[in-house]
Amino acid sequence: MSLSSLLAVAGIAGVLKSITNPAPPSAGEEMQFPRLKVGQLSDLQVGQPIVFNYPLDNEPNILVKLGVKAVGGIGPNGDIVAFSGICQHLGCIYGFQTAGSSPACNLSYRPDRPVGYCCCHGSVYDFTNAAAVISGPSPRPQPQVKLEMDTIGDIYAVGMGPPAIFGHQTGSNDVSADLQGGNPVASSE
Ligand code: FES
Repeated sequence: MSLSSLLAVAGIAGVLKSITNPAPPSAGEEMQFPRLKVGQLSDLQVGQPIVFNYPLDNEPNILVKLGVKAVGGIGPNGDIVAFSGICQHLGCIYGFQTAGSSPACNLSYRPDRPVGYCCCHGSVYDFTNAAAVISGPSPRPQPQVKLEMDTIGDIYAVGMGPPAIFGHQTGSNDVSADLQGGNPVASSE
């Protein structure tokens, strides 16, 4: 019997999936996100990203220690950040570049700071500044993962900041709605 069959028989598959699927909020309630361990301080090397899925179990984020203090950064140097890995332009999966390094798709480009670089159409996100758009066609920054670190250096994802993760916009003008901490119903009242 395959592992998936065993999990199904044991009823475990549904449990595993629900760990990283946030419950949708009711009207007037805040979105509730899971608390998920995504790394350990001692394992992080400057400029070496780790990819983890959150808050849905098939949607990647980039966790990285930048080596320079960053907006929203945690850790002893305030330089550990994480962002959705799905480009806000048209949904490609983008990569991380250290300062001075070139993406394989554009060897003439060398950022002066750590960035996210999308090889689909060239959007560049400033990882030191809440993934603000530096250049390219992206209309908005990347959603920042809210991180916490405990006393032994374990790092947890505990929520998402705005805007909504690509693909989860509600269709309204409020792109900060849906899979992030605010509730569009509550905020419009
Ligand atoms: S999908 Fe990333 S720049 Fe177009």
